[in-house]
Amino acid sequence: MLSLNEGTITAAYIAATILFILALGGLSNQETARRGNWYGITGMAIALVATIFGKVTGNYALLVGALLIGATIGLLLARRVQMTQMPELVAILHSLVGAAAVFVGFASFMDPNTSYTGVEKTIHNIEIYVGILIGAVTFSGSVIAFGKLSGRIGGSPMLLPARHWLNLLLLLGAIWFGREFVMQAAAGGGMQPLIIMTVLALLFGIHMVMAIGGADMPVVVSMLNSYSGWAASATGFMLSNDLLIVTGALVGSSGAILSYIMCRAMNRKFLNVIAGGFGTGGGASAAGGGEQEGEISPVNADETAAMLADAKEVMIIPGYGMAVAQAQHTVYEITKALRAKKVNVRFGIHPVAGRMPGHMNVLLAEAKVPYDIVFEMDEINEDFPDVDVSVVIGANDIVNPSAQEEPDSPIAGMPVLECWKGKTTIVLKRSMATGYAGVQNPLFFKENTRMLFGDAKETLDQVLKDLT
Ligand code: TAP
Repeated sequence: MLSLNEGTITAAYIAATILFILALGGLSNQETARRGNWYGITGMAIALVATIFGKVTGNYALLVGALLIGATIGLLLARRVQMTQMPELVAILHSLVGAAAVFVGFASFMDPNTSYTGVEKTIHNIEIYVGILIGAVTFSGSVIAFGKLSGRIGGSPMLLPARHWLNLLLLLGAIWFGREFVMQAAAGGGMQPLIIMTVLALLFGIHMVMAIGGADMPVVVSMLNSYSGWAASATGFMLSNDLLIVTGALVGSSGAILSYIMCRAMNRKFLNVIAGGFGTGGGASAAGGGEQEGEISPVNADETAAMLADAKEVMIIPGYGMAVAQAQHTVYEITKALRAKKVNVRFGIHPVAGRMPGHMNVLLAEAKVPYDIVFEMDEINEDFPDVDVSVVIGANDIVNPSAQEEPDSPIAGMPVLECWKGKTTIVLKRSMATGYAGVQNPLFFKENTRMLFGDAKETLDQVLKDLT
């Protein structure tokens, strides 16, 4: 078997680290995202080769078997998963990172060949303890997040009485058992406090995510992403693997930054999200929706096509429903037809539109919509008074004026796309059902709003036919 020397492994690890950083940089912008993905894939391939042929010393049959099983599961999942199911896939993958940290922790602790003594041993034991702690919280929290996102568990927050005290108790328990573990491990024992802490950490993960409401789940997924990074980093410490430490820290910090960005997009304080209790949505549109708040004005596809053709400025606002209907290609065909008629068409993207960060950008890129007509909410919100027709395609919460007008609304304070300030808004959806946050939308009842009911793909196909 090929065996790499220390120098080659270090060089390979540095190359992989640089590629991972370039990957993160690339993924921050849609024009460079594809390249970013390739940097990541190359970095991971280098890391795997260097680890398999440099660090692993035996048991190759087991390793190759595990790699084959893992790669097959990964390929099957990636091929099967729908764009709208990505958040739950990400959540369940995070749970695997957490589980890996727990298993590596116990294996390191039980390893009979360990050569650590004295202070080094204590430090190693602390690494094990912290790694298992973060890993177990990540594991159980991610499994619950998966359950909530896939609708297997209800989306409303589970609020136990004295839940903050319970969390504090679990945290203090984890610290106390940590002290016990380090003392007992120095004398050759320690398994019992380690197991008790693992159970407490698993309970903490379950309790933490159960207390978080549907509308806050995007933040929770990126927070668990961050945790999974720290769990991987802790595993790196246990295994003395520098690349794993650095990569874990990169994932940990980028996940934390993403959580912060998403909190800002939803006007939520990170600590409030973690403390739980916000968001009432069940993750899917509640049939029937909330109460009627007035008259609505329906419109049909012919009239929509005529209004669009007469407009000078059109703003398209895509949301989760566009992803469900897979209408992005038709949307682009309509854009081309309108641009050919000298209509200025732009896209306005809300940071939490859809079900995962960058969801709409990915769909629009897939349909080959040029990047220079796609704008972030902050870039175009002031332009709505000059917009003739806004077309809201399967979006709801992100264009809900009650976020600004109703202090008691569950989405109060969340920045929204202010399409109602334009001349006319056409909303495409199938019914009057609510969106993810489960709140009714006064936009639908405004005088300058027209409702185009039906599956977005079907109605837009009709609009396209009428336009061309
Ligand atoms: P939502 O508020 O969920 O609204 C989507 C709308 O699409 C629904 O009102 C639904 O109405 C409609 N729809 C569904 N299928 C459709 C179809 N085939 N054709 C036409 N319309 C269809 O979506 P949004 O405005 O994009 O807002 C995103 C929400 O999801 C926010 O609350 C956000 O916090 C949350 N969220 C975001 C993320 C990230 S990271 N982006 C992750 C998880 C959750 P009908 O049923 O009447 O058709």
